[in-house]
Amino acid sequence: MRCTVSLACSGMAGDPYRDEQFVARYDFDNAASDDHAYYRALADAIEAEKIIDLGCGTGLLTRALATPGRVVIGVDPSATMLGYARRQPGAEAVTWIHGDATIAGAGDADLAVSSGNTMMHISPKAYPTVLGSLRDALRLGGVISFETRNPRAKEWERWNPDETYTERDTSSGHLREWLVWRSARTTTALYFRTAEDITADLERAGFSDVDVRGGWHNEPVTADSRVLVFRAHRGSRQE
Ligand SMILES: C[S@@+](CC[C@H](N)C(=O)[O-])C[C@H]1O[C@@H](n2cnc3c(N)ncnc32)[C@H](O)[C@@H]1O
Repeated sequence: MRCTVSLACSGMAGDPYRDEQFVARYDFDNAASDDHAYYRALADAIEAEKIIDLGCGTGLLTRALATPGRVVIGVDPSATMLGYARRQPGAEAVTWIHGDATIAGAGDADLAVSSGNTMMHISPKAYPTVLGSLRDALRLGGVISFETRNPRAKEWERWNPDETYTERDTSSGHLREWLVWRSARTTTALYFRTAEDITADLERAGFSDVDVRGGWHNEPVTADSRVLVFRAHRGSRQE
């Protein structure tokens, strides 16, 4: 099953993350949690010395990965997100690159991660190229890991004003927020892909030992799993 859900964000045409006020609030709304703990533990477990964080956004995870002795590269196409990331404490420990996966390929990285459902922003047309670029960025045996929302959980059915409306004061004013989904033209598309489809895509791109979990703590995948957590190795096959 492949399906696309589009989120409408008023006033944010083009780069959906270009709004400075939205970006300044991003880390508050998306604080480090089990997801960051998972990626950090993975980097430690494989003793990663070089890490690429694709779609690094504000760089909260990227900076946390940048422990002494490690090379960490944060890549993002949003100038606003990357600009914010570059201004944060600890930013000097990271190499920030304005771009997408196609610039990331030196073939010597131990780990490539993509958090915050970034891979859901990649269109079906670009997906094989992105996976191929991440493969090329990794050394043989290097690890790719990312998460996506599980389409079988049909989370979009709860993306309506009744179930998602919140109101609060922020540093940039009073914020009223809700989610809507639309099936047609809007500004931010999220591409939902099943565990089976992504596994096949990874194998086609030259990854092996694809492992999929239904959560951050090795949970099995079920129809109710909201998140799919992938891990695979760069195999020896080149496309
Ligand atoms: C939801 S944010 C996630 C940011 C961060 N990784 C996190 O965990 O909070 C998605 C990020 O993906 C980036 N993005 C969108 N399209 C992309 C693409 N084709 N390649 C790489 N990054 C992309 C956006 O600019 C944005 O910073």
